[in-house]
Amino acid sequence: MKKWLVPIILFSSFLSADDLDGKKVFETYCWGCHHQTAVAFGPPFTEIAAKRTREEIEAYIISPESMYKAFGYKRTAMSQLNLNDKERESVAKYILLYKGK
Ligand code: HEC
Repeated sequence: MKKWLVPIILFSSFLSADDLDGKKVFETYCWGCHHQTAVAFGPPFTEIAAKRTREEIEAYIISPESMYKAFGYKRTAMSQLNLNDKERESVAKYILLYKGK
């Protein structure tokens, strides 16, 4: 690898660790069904953030199918999204920014 590439790659991985990334994941995968503050097909992030932890949110993303009963739903209409660990973590953090809003 060329030496000058190393700082560029390091720098861009720092950038993507930012919470902005969570917004991008949200816009890519969730926006059709969830909005930040308004009820859409699914509940708004303000409501989710008020009652769930990061672990619960991540568990729901991994498998709505095995979590919906525990969350009090009769059925699930949320699609199973195959996000990687980082995408899932950053979108969960992004949702929690709406706590108390
Ligand atoms: C196809 C539509 C759809 C998509 C896409 C979708 N959701 Fe959902 N989501 C729902 C619906 C509808 C519910 C209500 C419960 C159910 O049907 O599973 C829900 C419920 C949830 C819950 C649990 C709500 C609670 O009671 O706390 C979380 C967390 C959640 N969604 C996060 C996400 C995230 C994050 C994304 C994007 C990565 C996403 N959803 C994408 C439709 C969707």
